[in-house]
Amino acid sequence: MKYISYDEATKVFQLHTKNSVYQMQVADYNTLVHLYYGADIGDTQASHRIIRLDRGFCVNPYEAGDDRTFSLDVLPQEYSGYGNGDYRINAMEAEHEDGSDALHLRYESHKMMEGKYSLDGLPCMFGGADEAETLEIVLYDRITNLKVHLLYGVFYELDVITRAVRIHNEGERAVKIQRAMSMEMDYPNKHMDLIHFYGRHAMERLTERLPLYHGIQSVESKRGTSSHQHNPFVILCDKSASEKLGDCYGFALAYSGNFRCEIEVDQMEQTRIVMGIHPYHFSFKLNKGDVFETPEAIMAYSSEGLSRLSHIYHDAYRSNLIRSKYVTMPRPVLVNNWEATYFGFDEEKLYRIAQDAKEIGLDMFVLDDGWFGKRDNDNAGLGDWVVNEDKIKGGLPKLVKRIKDLGLKFGIWIEPEMVSEDSDLYREHPDWVLRIPDRSMTRGRFQLNLDITRKEVRDHVMQQIFRVLDSCQVDYVKWDMNRSVANVYSSALPSDRQGEVFHRYVLGVYEMMEQLVTRYPDLLFENCSGGGGRFDAGMLYYSPQIWCSDNTDAIDRLKIQYGTSFGYPISAMGSHVSVCPNHQNGRVTPFETRGVVASAGTFGYELDLGRLTPEEKEMAKKQILDYKQIEHLVQTGDYYRLSDPFKNNDYVVWQFVSKDKKETVVNGVQLRNEPNPHIHLIYLEGLLPKEHYKDAQTGAVYTGAALMKAGIPLPVGLGDYQPLKFRFVMV
Ligand code: GLA
Repeated sequence: MKYISYDEATKVFQLHTKNSVYQMQVADYNTLVHLYYGADIGDTQASHRIIRLDRGFCVNPYEAGDDRTFSLDVLPQEYSGYGNGDYRINAMEAEHEDGSDALHLRYESHKMMEGKYSLDGLPCMFGGADEAETLEIVLYDRITNLKVHLLYGVFYELDVITRAVRIHNEGERAVKIQRAMSMEMDYPNKHMDLIHFYGRHAMERLTERLPLYHGIQSVESKRGTSSHQHNPFVILCDKSASEKLGDCYGFALAYSGNFRCEIEVDQMEQTRIVMGIHPYHFSFKLNKGDVFETPEAIMAYSSEGLSRLSHIYHDAYRSNLIRSKYVTMPRPVLVNNWEATYFGFDEEKLYRIAQDAKEIGLDMFVLDDGWFGKRDNDNAGLGDWVVNEDKIKGGLPKLVKRIKDLGLKFGIWIEPEMVSEDSDLYREHPDWVLRIPDRSMTRGRFQLNLDITRKEVRDHVMQQIFRVLDSCQVDYVKWDMNRSVANVYSSALPSDRQGEVFHRYVLGVYEMMEQLVTRYPDLLFENCSGGGGRFDAGMLYYSPQIWCSDNTDAIDRLKIQYGTSFGYPISAMGSHVSVCPNHQNGRVTPFETRGVVASAGTFGYELDLGRLTPEEKEMAKKQILDYKQIEHLVQTGDYYRLSDPFKNNDYVVWQFVSKDKKETVVNGVQLRNEPNPHIHLIYLEGLLPKEHYKDAQTGAVYTGAALMKAGIPLPVGLGDYQPLKFRFVMV
């Protein structure tokens, strides 16, 4: 093993990545203690940081005898069980048959393996023997013989450590898991800030930075999805950390359902973080021999500030999480008919949009919601995945052939997890939805969640969808999910397993998506949940891109895309040009500005191209060509946030740098023009200081150092919401 070691004498484990080290130790009474995670500290084992004292009201385990300095209440631990005198948030809790719920987890054994572990039916990073190593530490509870396998995936080059937990009931009796976090980690005496990403529908992943305080802070979703409201990615960082400087730790959960990240600052100024499935309405019954696996937490450390932390995640997801062959390939630039037509279309209207798309140089036409069942509005039709021939006369294959004959690819929208009450599917199978007996249901957009914990339901829906996809050789699918999960009860599960429904629902989604990507390996797959309601690392395992937000306004998108960029690659953000006044907020912005903002993502259009003015059509043609010139930077380059839209009201700028540092693009928006203006200098990042770079517009040549340290002035005299565009190439 190259990157994982165990010192038999001191019982210290070390996990090494290129720029970080993670240490833990088997301490007294086989307690697995966390020692350190951070910058490389050479051959020092950090057990000197643990000082044991007799502390009031910190209880001691019985086997410690008269040693009153050994208390689980203050020791940093790798994975703590509830009920042993550690009164902080714990990683795990289980209810036993006798009604007790204590778990005392102690080290039993460990093994190391080449390559990265995988999880059954759950998304996770992958890595062969040349990329990753695995450490598996087995903890056990003596009374129940529950075995808790802590899994660590170590990606040396990527600077990433993943964690997950496999729980195996090797005892005779059933156990009900009440809480099984994917990771726990303690920091002794480190005063940090929390950065998290909150929001709402059409305003997702806004950024907030807060000091940690004594007590518990949490970031969580109970909506059955990772949600618009809170994202399963958080950062803990030094109080002084900035884009360029300081210790930063990232914690991402590759999971698309209920989650909770809790951070507790305790009485001793220690900080504990746990992250995993939300314990609310969660329990999982393990009979003798049963196994439960938690989702994966993906951790990264940067000593060089937030930009570097983001680069670690962007690169790691692109190389070892997103499986799609399109991950770094040019994606077809598309037009989507949603904001162009909503539900009001027929085959001729769609064909006209496709003709216009061809004329301006687009690659793909995407048919959004409304093509199936009786879907004339959002009250009906979900679940009936059969084309609506009143709207599309002659059927889908005919329309698709006409569109493909234009030389365009064809994509389609589906929402497989849902059913409308007004649908044939619901009339036939009213029991196929999540519904609590005797209670009236909550509706969301007039639709219900199918009970996809049931295999027959999943298979029925997917078979219908496959029939459509097979009939017309679809190139792209947009998988939507347009309500929060509620009425959480499955008639197919016994009463003592209802706590499993939320999680089984997510496993059902993953199984359906796995069926889709396995059957159609060449399909370009985009995830969506009312825009960015399920923008998480779990979804990226199945699809290389996710519709970032239903809000297509270029100015609001500056904040949404800024927040999203902390934890997710730019190449994963679906981003389109739409009309003005904008349909979500009524704002008017220049066409070119909308193009610049949409080019920081997977580019496309969401409008009726036939209604563009001749000038706008010309601009669109140029935008598409411009995007194709920078697309490789969006797909594979390093991304820098050069300004913070939450602080700067004058302009927002961002930068892409190619990995070889030979090319860079700075784009942005001037938000506000002022008379007698300040000269705003922007300072580039990531260039080679001694090399020379030529401004592609003016021909002026600068050293990399000049662009980074002396800066370049933004143009003066522009109006409000004007686009900013620079491109420099090494000469
Ligand atoms: C969601 C999506 C939109 C569109 C509509 C269709 O809101 O985010 O892009 O597909 O559904 O109903």
